[in-house]
Formats: sequence, structure tokens, C-alpha cells
Amino acid sequence: MTALAPTPRLAVLPDRRALAAAAASEIVERARAAVDHKGSFTWALAGGGTPRDLYTLLADPHAGFRGEMPWQQTHVFWGDERHVLPDHPDSNFRMAREAMLDAVPVPPHNIHRIPAEEADAARAADLYEAELRAFFAREDWPRFDLVLLGLGADAHTASLFPGSPVLAERVRWVAAPYVPALASFRITLTPPAIDHAAAVLFLVAGDDKAAAVRAVIEGDEPPALRPARAIRTISATRAADPNAGELLWLIDHAAARDLSKS
Ligand code: 6PG
Repeated sequence: MTALAPTPRLAVLPDRRALAAAAASEIVERARAAVDHKGSFTWALAGGGTPRDLYTLLADPHAGFRGEMPWQQTHVFWGDERHVLPDHPDSNFRMAREAMLDAVPVPPHNIHRIPAEEADAARAADLYEAELRAFFAREDWPRFDLVLLGLGADAHTASLFPGSPVLAERVRWVAAPYVPALASFRITLTPPAIDHAAAVLFLVAGDDKAAAVRAVIEGDEPPALRPARAIRTISATRAADPNAGELLWLIDHAAARDLSKS
């Protein structure tokens, strides 16, 4: 029997505010379950702008999520990072720090930042991979409890961009691709490093993402053209594997505009 990719769970929320609240609920539930099960929650954060509202909501003492999160047992990582200093306006670390980490009691040694200040992006990737391999010791692949991902209008995710050679990577956990469209290097988890997570959650909002959402969820273009389709297709052969991970999509109504009603 050909193993089928696990069926993604998809929820469409009316607007960005509802989307952030749904994501916060999902993350709190997963964090508490992971800590109950094994004493820790390992979460790879997404960059870009979409997750900011989610991070702010989780850190808000009046929103009802902050007090429910097991922050002391939470380890945060990043799915990708720009090749900039950690206090640079484009830094994914800076965005998460300002929106959430400065306001919640995650122990400093539980914050596993990508060292993107390294002049050589490849060395930054090597250092981050070494940290991940030390943390997920004796594992063939990192098994994050949750990898949070965004989606670009070109269907890139993390820093896996169309045409990138990293899309074919099946050994490294972390890579430092040059992104011609951005004229810059990025540091990113590779597709298999993301794919082996217990759960992958795509958080997508806005009508500018509607075509990409449809292409990834309902289309059949190859990952070289639509990189987010690399996630959970590698693990398609693992679908029969009891350890196969979950795939969740939380999108707002605008981003769902082009999906078929089914
Ligand atoms: C990054 C992200 C990237 C992001 C998408 C969507 O470093 O920018 O990892 O993959 O999630 O580009 O970005 P927005 O949320 O800003 O639309």
C-alpha cells in the first residue's frame, strides 16, 4: 500500500485576531501535554510578521494564555533566521524577544538562538546544528514537539525558497542557503529536520497568501516550485509510522479565499 501523506488538519478563522487566539490555544494545549508526558516542550518559532500577534497574545498577562503555558519547561528554537545581528530590525530572534520572550519566564538557557551574528552564515548553521545535535542527543533527527511555520506568497516556508538546493537536503539538520531573491544568506532548518517534528503548524493570514495556500494544500507542483510542499511529503513514507507527525494549518478567511469549499 502506498503510504499516504498524513491528512492535514485545517481550520479557517474569521480574522487575524481569532487566528492568533486559535494558535495560542493550540500551542498551550500541546505545551501542557508535552510537559505532562516528558517534562519539556520543544518549540521552533517562526519568523516574519504573522506570528507577532500570537507571541504577544501568549505573553499578555490579561489574555488567559500566559498563565497556562509551562514556560519554565519550554525550550524555544527558531526554524530560521536572517543573517543579521540579534538586535537588527530584521532579526526573527529580536521580534520574538520583543513580542514574547522578554515578558515570560522561559529560562535564558532554554532559549536556543541561531548565532546569525557569525560573519560566515555556513558557520552559523554549523554551530546551530551542533547545538541541536547536543540537545536532541542520539536522535537521527530533531524531534521538536512543535515547529511553527509561516508561508510566503511564493509558498516558501522557513528559509526554504523556490529553487533552493536546500530543498533536496537529506542529511544536514541546518543549512545556510544564499537567497538570490533577497540577495542575502539565511540560516534554516532543512526539510527533514522540520519534517521529523511531532507537529508542524502553518500559521497563515492575508489575501496575499491565498494563492500560495491553495497551491500548497490543493496543488501538485513540486517542492522546488512550492517549498512548503516539502513538509510532510518526505514523511509520507512515514505515514504508517506510529511516530509520524501531525500537520496543522491555521489560516484566516482571507488566506483561505482560493481553497475549494471541500
Ligand atoms: C522569515 C520566515 C518566513 C515567513 C514567511 C511569511 O524569516 O521571514 O521564516 O518563512 O514565515 O516569509 O512571512 P510573514 O508572516 O511576514 O508574511
